[in-house]
Amino acid sequence: MSLKAAIVGLGGISAAHIRGWQETEGVEPIAGADINEEAVDAAEKQQGLAGYTDWREMLEAQRPDLVSICTPPFLHAEITIECLERGIHVMCEKPMAATREDAEQMAAVADEADALLQVAYCHRFHGPAMKLREIIASGILGRPVFFRGAFTGLSEMESDHRSNIAQAGGGALMDNGSHAVDLYQFLLGKIADVSCRAGTLLQEMETDDVAVMIFEGEEGCYGEVLVGYSVPPQFTEWRIAGERGLLTLEDYFNGPVRFWDRDTGEWEDHECDNSLTRFQRQFAHFIECIREGRLPLSNAETALHTQRVIAAAYDAAHAGGLPVD
Ligand SMILES: NC(=O)c1ccc[n+]([C@@H]2O[C@H](COP(=O)([O-])OP(=O)(O)OC[C@H]3O[C@@H](n4cnc5c(N)ncnc54)[C@H](O)[C@@H]3O)[C@@H](O)[C@H]2O)c1
Repeated sequence: MSLKAAIVGLGGISAAHIRGWQETEGVEPIAGADINEEAVDAAEKQQGLAGYTDWREMLEAQRPDLVSICTPPFLHAEITIECLERGIHVMCEKPMAATREDAEQMAAVADEADALLQVAYCHRFHGPAMKLREIIASGILGRPVFFRGAFTGLSEMESDHRSNIAQAGGGALMDNGSHAVDLYQFLLGKIADVSCRAGTLLQEMETDDVAVMIFEGEEGCYGEVLVGYSVPPQFTEWRIAGERGLLTLEDYFNGPVRFWDRDTGEWEDHECDNSLTRFQRQFAHFIECIREGRLPLSNAETALHTQRVIAAAYDAAHAGGLPVD
């Protein structure tokens, strides 16, 4: 029998969720809720969903098996907890929450729940990122010592929820920095400590539009994450240096992953499996986990670690650096 999916929050990313559930075998998107009546209207007319302006009313009336949460982060905890307590599986958009405290509560409820929580860190399902992980796991890089990840872009953020500290919990670092930190965790493991600069340098907004975080991984690898809404998108690069060579991913969205071998001095290209998008893989993975009763690859524990790293980075940014003189 098909699983019934409902979506809370019908803004930008909800289209990927509606399409994701439409394309995944054994799932049918049936309903959507948003406080914005125009968005509800569009979901009804264009997607054929039953529309609601109150998400609780939608849960009561439609009794979905799973819910996608696509609201701004400050609502993630309340909606996730209510769904999990009702036994509804949750695909919650990243970041897990707007605050570390909310994320901790979500993880505690997810631990006890009869339903599954996947946090939509979709880059774990991105072909080039999966290739990076496969190559690192093969051991050819040797001990990793330096990681650099950059997610940058030029976006006007003034009217976006990400420019509002209460709604988003942070700006570029919370939004794209959390993707980068989660990707580090996926590739190389947990992070032990952080330093950071995060500020509002070029746009009129409450949250950061430029941030740089440096850190040390639990295995002793040093890392750097660069994010920004006011930085040319061409400035996007991923590099991991290890004792036996260098891995680079310059075209993040297509690949290839390139490996420079220290012994031979040669570059080798590794093509990536882009036959499915990260979204197609992410949604299919969640349904497999529900069917097989196993924990998703991006779960409460991994997402909570990412949230703690970002919270520590903002604390470090507020603390500032050491004066030179
Ligand atoms: N995985 C990714 O790559 C990716 C990409 C984009 C966004 N996101 C995440 O998805 C989330 C939403 O981002 P977006 O860009 O779609 O934002 P958005 O602002 O475009 O959409 C959010 C929607 O939530 C609605 N909303 C607000 N309060 C609500 C409530 N009480 N009940 C129901 N709906 C409510 C808003 O009206 C709006 O339509 C964020 O957490 C964001 O970080 C993830």
